[in-house]
Parts: sequence; structure tokens; C-alpha cells
Amino acid sequence: SSRTRPIVAIDGPAGAGKSSVARRLAERLGFVLVDTGALYRTVALAAQRDGIAFDDAEGLERLTHSLVAANAIAFAPAQGREPRVSFSGEDISDAIRTPEMGMGASIVSAHPGVRAALLDLQRKLGEGGGVVLEGRDIGTVVFPDADVKFFLTASPEVRATRRFEELVAKGQSVTFEGTLEEVKKRDAQDMNRAHAPLRRAPTAILIDSSGNTVDETVSKMADIVLAHGKNV
Ligand code: DC
Repeated sequence: SSRTRPIVAIDGPAGAGKSSVARRLAERLGFVLVDTGALYRTVALAAQRDGIAFDDAEGLERLTHSLVAANAIAFAPAQGREPRVSFSGEDISDAIRTPEMGMGASIVSAHPGVRAALLDLQRKLGEGGGVVLEGRDIGTVVFPDADVKFFLTASPEVRATRRFEELVAKGQSVTFEGTLEEVKKRDAQDMNRAHAPLRRAPTAILIDSSGNTVDETVSKMADIVLAHGKNV
């Protein structure tokens, strides 16, 4: 391909630390970050607001096409925080990052029409290179030719603990048990769906973050990208 800077793909289950790791890796490398989960979360939020049921495949597909055609979703980087996401000019960053919208995103993302409607947008966001994309199917479907692919994971208990602490820090009222249950349910949904299920690409480097800090994980991944050698 003609790009001169690398495309870095990070896939993995919910709560593996993907969002913090991807953001810090992008900052470290001076790359753009693309949080693809935010796209599915935005579809779930827009559907909820429009009264479109999460099992209405046709309605969701139409909705997703219209959001993409209207260029309704925009990202803005935020230093030291998750990127801000706006929807038709409204800041929905906090509204989409709730457990309810995580579960909603997991459900709407199982519809192939929704996935197809978001595919070109994700490719446009990444094709120039110098980019870190995080999601579930980046290395398998969106950019199978990504220069560096990571599969980031951690044990379910570690992931639930992190997620729980994150949500508590945001002031949400959740229980650890409920969070662990949600993490496991979302894993099962994401791994068992028929279209673009979550799985490790054969060439993806497995990174288990269970015993490591975010800094340690990011350093290890940055070294791998730098060793790749393409104009970083
Ligand atoms: O990474 P996240 O928790 O924001 O993702 C929310 C849901 O969106 C996730 O459970 C499954 C779906 N998703 C997907 O199917 N493909 C992606 N590339 C990213 C997210």
C-alpha cells in the first residue's frame, strides 16, 4: 500500500485495558487514536433515543447508514482522557460510556448491516497510517493488513476489577459481582456472534496485561511498534 506510517490494530475483550493502553500508546507514538467501540456505542444511543429496538436489524442498519452519511459522529482527542465523541454537535462522551450503552453496543454490533455500515468509515479513519485503532475486529476484518496487530487480554476477574474501579471513579453505582457478570456476558456475545466475532488474528501479538501496569504494557507495545521500523 502507499501509506508510509504504520497502522496499529488493538483488539481484545471488554475491560482488558484497551482504551487506556491504546490512548497512551497513540500519545507515545504521536499517532491518532480511533476508538471503534465508540461508533457502536453511538449507534446504540441513537437507537435508544429514536425508539429503535436493539433487535430491529433493518431499522438499525438504516439508522447507521444515515449517521454515517450525515457525518454525524466526530472524535476529538483529549489529553490524558478518553477521546471526546460528539453526535450532531452534542458531546455524548459520557452518555455512551455507561454499562448500559456497552451492552447496547454489544447487541447492535451483532447485526451485519450495522457492521457493514461502519466499515468504510473505520477504514477512512485509519487508511492514512500513523494511527492506533482499537476494537474487536480491527486485525481480522477492518485492517487485515495492519502493520502491527495486538490482541490485548487479561483474566475476567482482573478485567472486571478494572472496569468496576473505573465506573466507581466515574460516580456510577455498580457492584463488583454485577460488573463481573456484565464482562462475562459481553465476552460471550462478542465471541459467539456470527459476523466478525472477537478472535485473535493469526498474526496478532498476544499481550496479557493481568500482572502489568498500563505503563509497562504500553512500553512493551511501543517497543514492538518501533522495532517494526516503518517511519514511526
Ligand atoms: O470497546 P467497547 O467496550 O467500547 O465496545 C463496545 C461494544 O461494541 C463491544 O462489546 C462490541 C462492539 N464492538 C465491535 O463489535 N467491534 C468493534 N470493532 C468495537 C466494538
